[in-house]
Amino acid sequence: MEPVDTLAAVDVQALETEALDAVAAASTEEELDEARVRYLGRKSALKQALRGVRDRESGMALNALRERLEQAVAEREEAFAAERQRARTGDAYDPTLPGDAPPRGHLHPITQIRREVEDVFLGLGYEIVDGREVETTRYNFDALNLPAWHPTRSSRASLFLDDETVLRTETSPSQIRTMEERGGPPIYMITTGRVYRRDTVDATHTPIFHQVEGLAIDEGITLADLKGTLLHLMRALFGEDRAVRFRTHYFPFTEPSIEPDVSCFLCDGRGCSVCKHSGWIEMGGAGMVDPALYEFVGTEMYDPERISGFAFGLGLERIAMLRHRLPDIRMLWQNDLRVLEQF
Ligand code: PHE
Repeated sequence: MEPVDTLAAVDVQALETEALDAVAAASTEEELDEARVRYLGRKSALKQALRGVRDRESGMALNALRERLEQAVAEREEAFAAERQRARTGDAYDPTLPGDAPPRGHLHPITQIRREVEDVFLGLGYEIVDGREVETTRYNFDALNLPAWHPTRSSRASLFLDDETVLRTETSPSQIRTMEERGGPPIYMITTGRVYRRDTVDATHTPIFHQVEGLAIDEGITLADLKGTLLHLMRALFGEDRAVRFRTHYFPFTEPSIEPDVSCFLCDGRGCSVCKHSGWIEMGGAGMVDPALYEFVGTEMYDPERISGFAFGLGLERIAMLRHRLPDIRMLWQNDLRVLEQF
């Protein structure tokens, strides 16, 4: 028999383009099946050509084309099957199914601690006042009895906006402003907010951090009231079994001044790495309001012969780090969701 040059009868290139277009254009499984029958079915040009093929070269070319088309049809079939599966199991709209809960954020750990502290003091009848972050040197230093040579008055320690304006280095100026605004005792107030110091960032320091300041002025207030108040706070924050102790210290605006420690909530005082094996954790500064402050505000409003008061200042980051056992203060402010989502 005469060998026929089959390739001459079929334009492989044109046929492939046409068939692939048809497969791609199929928008339903029926249309895909039609395309499959048209280009790969028994009566298709390809199959007829294959039946009539005589030479090896044509046979290989046509078989390769058949394989490519079968592959394209199979892929499209899989896509339709996956779509059908999705429609059955999920993506289809079913108004009777419960909705997907949208991801919810939560308050920053520092905000959580701040609100907790505020709750404790609201429960004690304190009021929460707002302070200012930009302070005059008069309120940030002079009113607080800081001597002229005190190192925090230096631009190497504090962030000055000009000679007389500074980003507050502690929340204590709010003591003075509150005393002035109230015009006399009784005062039971706390304030929380940012403070600024020219510290180099490391695992325990950031140039911006948060403090809570407390001030109580009334008749007959003693150091025992301060101790009871801080004990109440520490128990609310770190558990009912906590104890508080005072170590003597110096602050220009309190006399006497103390540093309160809380018994370690992890080892219960036995000694561990969190309390550096002392059983106690330092919490900040406190003391009885120094009469120099009453004199600054005015002894006709605050007569040190008649009234007395205590004040304290604690770092919120410190509380948060202890609470969550964070090894590095920076973890609070890098806003890495992998960290923040854990609280
Ligand atoms: N302001 C002090 C500090 O930042 C803390 C303090 C507040 C001490 C109130 C005594 C009274 O270190």
